[in-house]
Amino acid sequence: MADLDTDYVEDRAPGHGRRAPRARFDSDAPRLELDGPWRFRAAAGLGDLTPGFEAPAFDDTHWDRLPVPSCWQLHGVGAPAYTNVTYPFPIDPPRVPDENPTGEYRRAFTLPGDWPAGRGLLRFDGVDSCFAVWLNGVRLGDGKGSRMPTEFDATDALRPGRNVLAVRVHQWSAGSYLEDQDMWWLSGIFRSVRLLSRPAGGLDDFFVHADYDHTTGAGTLRVETSAAARLTLPALGLTDADPAGPHVFDHVVPWSAEQPHLYLGELTTDGERIHVRVGFRTVAVEDGLLKVNGRPLLLRGVNRHEWDPETGRTLSDDTMLRDVLLMKRHNINAVRTSHYPPSSEFLALCDEYGLWVVDECDLETHGFEQVDWRGNPTADAHWREACLDRMRRVVERDKNHPSVIMWSLGNESGTGENLAAMAAWTRDRDPSRPIHYEGDRDSGYVDVYSRMYADHAETELIGRAAEPATGDPELDAHRRRLPFILCEYAHAMGNGPGGLTEYQRLFETYPRLQGGFVWEWIDHGIARRTADGRQFFAYGGDFGEPVHDGNFVADGLVLPDRTPSPGLAEYKKVIEPVRIAVDADARIIEVRNVHDFRDTSHLRFRWQAADDGEPCTEAALDVPVLAPGERTVLPWPDLPDAGEGERVLTVVAELAHDEPWARAGHEIAWGQAVTGEPSRAPEPGPRATVRRTADRLELGPARFDPATGALRRLGGLPLDGPRLDVWRAPTDNDVLGPRLADRWRAFGLHRLTTRVLGVDVNAEGLTVVTRAAPAGGDSALTTTYRWQADDTALRLHLTVEPAGDWPLPVPRIGVRLALPGWIDTVDWYGRGPGEAYRDTTAAARLGRFRRGVDAMQTPYVRPQENGNRREVRRARLTGDGGGLEVTGGFDLTVRRWTSEQLDAARHTCDLAPGDQVYVNLDAAHHGIGTASCGPGTLPEHTLHAGPTALHLTLRGL
Ligand code: GAL
Repeated sequence: MADLDTDYVEDRAPGHGRRAPRARFDSDAPRLELDGPWRFRAAAGLGDLTPGFEAPAFDDTHWDRLPVPSCWQLHGVGAPAYTNVTYPFPIDPPRVPDENPTGEYRRAFTLPGDWPAGRGLLRFDGVDSCFAVWLNGVRLGDGKGSRMPTEFDATDALRPGRNVLAVRVHQWSAGSYLEDQDMWWLSGIFRSVRLLSRPAGGLDDFFVHADYDHTTGAGTLRVETSAAARLTLPALGLTDADPAGPHVFDHVVPWSAEQPHLYLGELTTDGERIHVRVGFRTVAVEDGLLKVNGRPLLLRGVNRHEWDPETGRTLSDDTMLRDVLLMKRHNINAVRTSHYPPSSEFLALCDEYGLWVVDECDLETHGFEQVDWRGNPTADAHWREACLDRMRRVVERDKNHPSVIMWSLGNESGTGENLAAMAAWTRDRDPSRPIHYEGDRDSGYVDVYSRMYADHAETELIGRAAEPATGDPELDAHRRRLPFILCEYAHAMGNGPGGLTEYQRLFETYPRLQGGFVWEWIDHGIARRTADGRQFFAYGGDFGEPVHDGNFVADGLVLPDRTPSPGLAEYKKVIEPVRIAVDADARIIEVRNVHDFRDTSHLRFRWQAADDGEPCTEAALDVPVLAPGERTVLPWPDLPDAGEGERVLTVVAELAHDEPWARAGHEIAWGQAVTGEPSRAPEPGPRATVRRTADRLELGPARFDPATGALRRLGGLPLDGPRLDVWRAPTDNDVLGPRLADRWRAFGLHRLTTRVLGVDVNAEGLTVVTRAAPAGGDSALTTTYRWQADDTALRLHLTVEPAGDWPLPVPRIGVRLALPGWIDTVDWYGRGPGEAYRDTTAAARLGRFRRGVDAMQTPYVRPQENGNRREVRRARLTGDGGGLEVTGGFDLTVRRWTSEQLDAARHTCDLAPGDQVYVNLDAAHHGIGTASCGPGTLPEHTLHAGPTALHLTLRGL
């Protein structure tokens, strides 16, 4: 019989016919993986369903195939849509649009001949957003709660031999109102489907309680089981013991993110053997601090969405492992699973490799903010069960992961009784973990005070427990006693985030500030190709969405393909668990171990001295093993006499041995100090004088345009410029928030016009004066180019003087020149190897570096200013035809397009190399900040128009 009852779609109830939630575990009970190609039909809405599609005999051979797991929009069915806060449908809870794309899925499978008697469960690990299930035509039930498992009892419907599973999945449902996370709207069976045999005498559920007493080193283990079972943990001498214990061990190795020790064992019943991994640790909020095993934590975290640019929210095990390895290799120690529980496999990796996890419930109702929170589900009793159900399913699924140290009720869902009820249920079910929810500003039902994007000044106030009071004195007193975390900060959208160093300084100064989670781990760009096959990453609006939030979806520390962005390198440096201060004045090296748990015996140290970037000597540095929190001060090593020029002493801490997440030699931390002055360009020979003909001015090896005074040629090298440049292709942080970029454009910074005030040949050489100003205004920049030369080199003394009002910061002050397109390589001595701006410089060390021009670019998903190298002393730009050497002190950008082309591009594929290479040599830049969501550039990193000088020596090569 056709079953066209679809009332469940708009029913607030979380589901029907489901099994009670329970722990996720692996056992030796047989299971059948049902992933793979399924038959699929896309229906436009509930009026377009296929009657009888669930019948085993239904002929689906004319249907398409769709892989399970997958997000159907990434397989050409419908289209992805991105909104941050706005629901992409009218707010009319619990109703959803008639246009409700629905996928009809069918798959036949054969039950193996040796499939045991007993119950069979069908488990769906993630279906977005609502679905109903039939096995052999028998309806098993329906469910909602996209990022959480749903199990149905299949026992009575299961047959020997051939079975047919039919699933109907709806894009929109009442559940969608609870799933308004800032991400792509994607649908389908996007995590695995399995048939699990539950043998007679098997175990449905268990709850491991493994506490650690840091005062004695003892561990206490208690495992609650849903049926009688035996526990074996060889390393602790337990064999077939009663799991309930409690078993007290005088000494256990505790679990921490820094040293994730797991005891492997088994729970056995007559019907089943279950693998268990026990990590002993005790989480507590005491004395106003979040502690694990008696020590306060400093969370160096990231918010992680599940994302893959090809498969969306369907992630392979390899991809999850890549995330964990990348995080560990970048000194990250914590993950908030924003804003839903991740695949269980990810948490297993966190247990194994060591990451503190804040496990978040699949709940966000942010879009109700746009209607003043009217009808917000978290404050409406009709939704109580749906909210509680979500919380139960996270806690029950993930309760046995030692990495999970906090439960989070969800994200941006306002406040309401349902959240309080979720907190109460959780506290009762699992008193061993504190509860987090940022939206509870008064912190009435949570155990940590959490905020997002508080600026540095406010964060400092909170650090001093001097924040403004909340309305209710009792709640205020409670909140003031809580530890503080920034569950989101440092919005990593595009170029940036700036200001990380300053946040970290606060975290390391005020014990109440226990760190935070950078927003966010990965750009959710979708891989697409142009007609001619070039890849780019699409963002909101690229799929014709009528309502969307553009590239706000691309705000991660790694690019969509998981290439680390410069922001990740910066974060790694800022959160180093070992601090190395090399002090040139006192000639000492101070090493501080800022791990929370681990001593430094896993590290080895070495130093290297370099003169003008040329390494001259290096050796191991003997550093005594430091306990967490300990520091030591060592004298500088014996160094050979420094010659001419600048000496840089670099001290590095690296892994002494292989760790599961990185090889011996992997760098953890470094420090640097500089003595002396960089070598100057060779002293000039006898000064050249200007030779003038009708159509040219010549000075030493250079030729200028006699009318404009512009440099045209240096030896054999044609060039155009250098000319004053104050523009940059606005970054996301310039564009959003207080919209600095709009002010720049209104002022006309991107369209300065230049008038030559004078081209003056004098005894020194050539002096060119220009006035650059925007149309319609009387503010101007007067630039004086003083050129001198000898036979081989050209010197430029440039000064810039603002005139009139400059009421806004300027992007940069420097010069731009164009070189021939055959220039393809950059060698420089300065900061590198990566991109850096004045508030994102921590990771850039002094040294000599070489990169191809193309590799100097950071391909941010939305093109914008990028690729700057700071404090460059010397650069050589070369190619087959020769090249240019520039000496001085400047910031350097080299690219195959102009800032204007970069500004105009919407995607990376819009940028095409031309026949010139553009070089910016800057005296200064405006900082980056994180105003796309959070504080802008700090005052000390703000560039104001002011008298500026730049001295450069140019030499043709
Ligand atoms: C927060 C939110 C995140 C994300 C971020 C901005 O308000 O919790 O999900 O939207 O802002 O990227």
